[in-house]
Amino acid sequence: MKICVFSSKKYDKRFITEANSANYDMQFHAVRLSQDTAILAKGFDGVCCFVNDDINANVIAQLGDQGIRLIALRCAGFNNVDLEAAKAHHITVCRVPAYSPHAVAEHACALILDLNRNIHRAHNRIRENDYSLDGLLGFDLYKKAVGVIGAGNIGRKFINIMQGFGCNIIVSDPQYHPTGSHEPPRVELDKLLASSDLISLHCPLNSETHHLINKNAIAQMKAGVMLINTSRGGLVDTKAVIDGLKSGKIGYLGIDVYEEESTLFFENYSDTFIQDDIFARLQTFPNVTITGHQGFFTKEALEQIARTTMNNIAQFAKGNLKQVHVVVAS
Ligand code: NAI
Repeated sequence: MKICVFSSKKYDKRFITEANSANYDMQFHAVRLSQDTAILAKGFDGVCCFVNDDINANVIAQLGDQGIRLIALRCAGFNNVDLEAAKAHHITVCRVPAYSPHAVAEHACALILDLNRNIHRAHNRIRENDYSLDGLLGFDLYKKAVGVIGAGNIGRKFINIMQGFGCNIIVSDPQYHPTGSHEPPRVELDKLLASSDLISLHCPLNSETHHLINKNAIAQMKAGVMLINTSRGGLVDTKAVIDGLKSGKIGYLGIDVYEEESTLFFENYSDTFIQDDIFARLQTFPNVTITGHQGFFTKEALEQIARTTMNNIAQFAKGNLKQVHVVVAS
């Protein structure tokens, strides 16, 4: 198998190479897959892609014409792939459905604690020899109402952690069916929005969930609510959230993902200017913490991603992955 790896960083190369026990021919490229770069995959059997590769219908048509038969995603989400186009071109798409749900769930908690206790501001103050506490007032998480939207692999781990803080959890997820009293109740989205002190998003991005958090949803929320998004940027209408922050309706915002992140995250722009005015505005709020899609970025998760990706490729090579849709292999 010859696989062309897109959006690869030093760490991708390291972990994938370590997991490549079958010695497949892997060629690593730092560039994202797009219409301009798809040509790099000419002569390969498959491509290996990540969250911000642009795997739209045109790109897939080009890949199909070049003889590509496999798109091996090294991530859980597949919102960036046109599955119908892949099916039409007989290209199999596989992904890594669960690598370390702990990594993302723990990162959501890191954002919560950072925002609540103003850790980022305290850190800057201490470096300036400013040990005053004004402006750093937090609140106890104990007994707070936490709304979890999406209780799949990651959402459930997040619930476990927040239960450890003594939070009262409620869940909105059509597929969630609590079985015992230890499992938090399922509520309608409207109720979750209206009664949560903290809302954390753990559902996938699709046509139904795009801008799930919009002007109307924000209007229903409690004043001063904390909103956490470690799932996908498109779940949130960023302009509406900025309005919510300006009015004080949203008291805290923690995001690891951003709807226009694809040309921003994973790169170093420290020597230049950010052209995205909406993102730049977000960065001005003291009660906003942003990380650049690093929820997955733990040693354990990268090892598992590489292992599952190489196993998916091996299964495809053996003819075991025949479906032309997203294969749920783990
Ligand atoms: P999962 O598939 O195990 O769980 C998703 C859950 O969301 C399911 O229970 C599903 O029923 C529910 N859901 C679907 N539509 C919904 C809706 N309209 N409202 C409420 N719930 C809904 O997925 P998993 O592994 O928990 O991942 C969740 C998301 O986290 C992924 O789709 C991905 O976008 C994101 N993610 C982010 C990472 C990061 O580094 N920040 C890394 C990995 C995943």
